[in-house]
Amino acid sequence: MARLVGVFASSHAPLMARAWESVDASRRERISRTFAELGRRFSESRPDIALVVSPDHWVNFFLDNLPSFCIGVGETHDGPPEPWLKGVPYGSIKGHPGFALHLVATAFDGGFDPSLSHHLELDHGFIIPLWKMAIDPLPALVPLIVGTIEPPMPSARRCIAWGRMIRAAIESYPEDSRVAVLATGGLSHSIGEHDMGRIDEAFDRECIEHFRSGDPEALLAFLDRRMESAGNGAAEVRNWLVAHGAARARGFDLIGYHPYPEWYVGCGFAAWGDHDSGAEATASTPAA
Ligand SMILES: [Fe+2]
Repeated sequence: MARLVGVFASSHAPLMARAWESVDASRRERISRTFAELGRRFSESRPDIALVVSPDHWVNFFLDNLPSFCIGVGETHDGPPEPWLKGVPYGSIKGHPGFALHLVATAFDGGFDPSLSHHLELDHGFIIPLWKMAIDPLPALVPLIVGTIEPPMPSARRCIAWGRMIRAAIESYPEDSRVAVLATGGLSHSIGEHDMGRIDEAFDRECIEHFRSGDPEALLAFLDRRMESAGNGAAEVRNWLVAHGAARARGFDLIGYHPYPEWYVGCGFAAWGDHDSGAEATASTPAA
């Protein structure tokens, strides 16, 4: 049977790629250490398959067709399509149709109704974290797109339920595969709104504490009260909720938090300890 060997989360601020040097050297060094630590933990989990949970930033879908959840079941995916990400060393990315279709079947059996795609383009939400974490070679990648860009969006509670279902899908997959979950996006940011560029540090820090607490109800109540006021990008915390559900809401370990106004995003990075690697992710001094 397959095993869940790691659960991770990373912000994916596009300006990390487009305007890396807009941040001073010492803070670049700090976030580089965070990425290195996240990459180290990810690599040490030795996944055969990475289930990456991210939004679609208007690349595959638009208002005429906007799935709430879409699983990429293709043999390969392409990406990234954004011109300003040219030079990022990914073109064709290997998928894993066997596990992806098993996830679809598990979802349908469990009362979830995702859409599916045999060919997806993976944008910066998928690619920036893997690139900055220096994951090379990439494991087979199964994308899960969660509708976290345009309202109405899936409920926060539903996203945690998705995570629990994903764990069941991994643990019932008959192949002897190691599967890691990587959620991307968030924390607070505001894009194209009147307060574009605002980072809500108070939201981010309280959000992190709720993830740490392991109490999903308190986390959900907090997000119900505060997520909408933390900028439209904070909606991507839903992807972290999928990871949180997969980790049974246990073992959250903040690796770094970097609220860099030059990049518009309260950048957060985390790993959960509740998985089956045989060597739990250990808490270490946060990189920032
Ligand atoms: Fe995003």
